[in-house]
Amino acid sequence: MRTVDLIVKKRKGEALEQEEIEFLVQNYVEGRIPDYQMAAFCMAVYFQGMNTAEVAQLTMAMAHSGEMVDLAPITGVKVDKHSTGGVADTTTLVLGPLVAAAGVPMAKMSGRGLGHTGGTIDKLESIPGFQTTLSREAFIKQVNELKIALVGQSGNLVPADKKLYALRDVTGTVPSIPLIASSIMSKKIAAGADKLVLDVKVGSGAFMKKKEDAIALAETMVQIGEQVGRETVALVTSMEEPLGTAIGNALEVEEAILVLQGQKQGALRELCLLLGAEILVLTGRVRDRQEGRTLLENLLISGAALEKFVALVAAQGGNPAVAQDTSLLPQAAGQEVVQALPEQEGYVAAIDAERLGVAAMTLGAGRAEKDDPIDLAVGMKLHVRQGDRVTAGQPLATLYYNKREKLEQALKLVRPAFRFSQTPVAPEPLVYALVTKKGVTALNGHSL
Ligand code: URA
Ligand code: CA
Repeated sequence: MRTVDLIVKKRKGEALEQEEIEFLVQNYVEGRIPDYQMAAFCMAVYFQGMNTAEVAQLTMAMAHSGEMVDLAPITGVKVDKHSTGGVADTTTLVLGPLVAAAGVPMAKMSGRGLGHTGGTIDKLESIPGFQTTLSREAFIKQVNELKIALVGQSGNLVPADKKLYALRDVTGTVPSIPLIASSIMSKKIAAGADKLVLDVKVGSGAFMKKKEDAIALAETMVQIGEQVGRETVALVTSMEEPLGTAIGNALEVEEAILVLQGQKQGALRELCLLLGAEILVLTGRVRDRQEGRTLLENLLISGAALEKFVALVAAQGGNPAVAQDTSLLPQAAGQEVVQALPEQEGYVAAIDAERLGVAAMTLGAGRAEKDDPIDLAVGMKLHVRQGDRVTAGQPLATLYYNKREKLEQALKLVRPAFRFSQTPVAPEPLVYALVTKKGVTALNGHSL
């Protein structure tokens, strides 16, 4: 087999055979296919696409390029949740304990934040003492005993994706649905999940800016799951504004605790209930979504979900008292309130999640480069949502900072992140569509 023939075949729009896809992935990972040929292949895929069988084969070839985690020693159906990346999205910290409290195992490996989106592992490390590395044995034991463990990715998972993603990043081939879908699904499959619930974000703060593209990506990933025997469902959800009201590591942990305490309503809680209900249905824990939702609401009200969070923190060496006293989390030295100006009186038309994510990163909450240090205490709280009426002087956001010069830079991003309208604005629905193996269901009046 010659690489150039496979590039030409795809350039002409023909479908590759499984052996051909495996040849490309294996030889690329092992350094026998140079970057320039793989780049040409990615560009051919960008323009010609791939059929369902090809994307599934590409996904499995990538998953098998490194270690495949075996979660079989964990009792029960293992479901993983993946989000394509949002701002103020601390879903895992709420959803994990919530689903575990329902008796469904959450063996979750998460990443660190990069760019304008945060990462679960950084957030967890703002809990004093919390250890995000466990041996494979300790991880499995903890999930069997407690139904939950949250750790950082370890081991050599999907080296093909690391190499391909870096190549795509510099060759204009990131925004290709078959390449994105196989990248995401290969990592989840290598991490050992039996079934998957995906949160595909769309909007100004997301990687996918258009609903049609987000739905197409969700459909492709659900089809991959179907082809490879890992049932997958996806919710397509709005990232037109930040999901929760806190951005920054310790601040997001505090918000998650407030939701688990039952003190906080809103979009973050709602999304956790929706994703959680899908997980309970997929694992057969409940018969339908409504039963799942009711069960999860009751676990929040009874305090069982918060108790599970306490047990998780204690098991991983953290100070469980944070669940009652969030002032034990790292605190920033200064606070600065951004208020609405007189000419802004009216309604909040839009809140640019990406810009606020970058502002939080500027304060020190996130990384521009993979190895940058971060400041766990800093970030911001948002006091308004899209559609809210505002009057002059009303607080829009509070910035938590440790360095004045960083505050000045962040303020330049925060002010223009809010747009206003003189006339009432209807907020975007949280969820646009549900995608399952049966097809796409539009939700909340959205049309396909
Ligand atoms: N996220 C991924 O993991 N891979 C992509 O290709 C794009 C987003
Ligand atoms: Ca996240």
